Amino acid sequence: MSHIYVAGSINQDITARVQRRPRPGETIAGESVSFGLGGKGANQAVAAARSGASVELIGAVGGDRFGEELLADLDGEHGLSTAHVRRVPDSSTGVALITVDSDSENAIVVVPGANATLAPEHIADVEMSDGAVALSQFEVPQPTIRAFFEQAQSRGVTTVLNPAPADDVRDDLLELVDYLVVNETEALFYSDGDANSGLSTAGLEATAADLRAHDEQVVVVTLGRAGVFASTPSETIELDAYAVDPVDTTGAGDAFVGAFATAIGDGLALQDALDTGTAAGALATTEAGATPSLPTRAAIQNIRQDS
Ligand code: RIB
Repeated sequence: MSHIYVAGSINQDITARVQRRPRPGETIAGESVSFGLGGKGANQAVAAARSGASVELIGAVGGDRFGEELLADLDGEHGLSTAHVRRVPDSSTGVALITVDSDSENAIVVVPGANATLAPEHIADVEMSDGAVALSQFEVPQPTIRAFFEQAQSRGVTTVLNPAPADDVRDDLLELVDYLVVNETEALFYSDGDANSGLSTAGLEATAADLRAHDEQVVVVTLGRAGVFASTPSETIELDAYAVDPVDTTGAGDAFVGAFATAIGDGLALQDALDTGTAAGALATTEAGATPSLPTRAAIQNIRQDS
């Protein structure tokens, strides 16, 4: 069984379904609202646990009611160890304000709150076991991620970074990454790529070469309905997406990353791990919400067998 450490964000997601988004200065009526556990860190931790890993989440919530409820959800409903999730009394819990429109596309504003307080010293007492996977994203401070990955490397732990949302990044962080997983928008941001070269294999190969921070690094670019692309120093892999009817794309990228990291931890070959992530990402679009839509290992196996 994979053992995965996730240093990442924990958010209260507040999701409104709308026909369309309001223009500046306009007020519109939404169709429904839902509240749930979110944050790229928590989503990827839950995705990894549902896909079969044993998961340790390292993060922070505020001293407010959201923090209390999310901690209880993580521990109870989602069965994650929260020994390394701190409550920060004088901070608010991270909040994501999400709209999902009639095309099932989302737009998100995140207020980091307690996530911004996660510091390198909060990583120091995490005992990582050899052969595990360390996973992080960009909703917690980069110096903390760097400390996390340095510790991971010193223990023989594989590192996976999903640098989302896109932000300026230092090379000395990227050099610690074994698997870099980005979506197409992030790939263009980090590589200063040309949007016109788009999804062509040559364009993606050039982008991956630009992104790769060291010779052994595997670069994965998720392409939504166009599938996934991966580049290693010795091969290029392209896989199609699974055909599903999407309802809400929120959390689909997190489903991919969590399931992919689990598969890597399980020792699957890269192509198999990519296919596992792609199946999880597709399934996650077929239900509303971030964590409610994250698929189980059985659901992932079913869709893979049926295709
Ligand atoms: O990736 C989806 C997540 O992004 C949401 O759950 C929201 O909290 C934001 O962090």
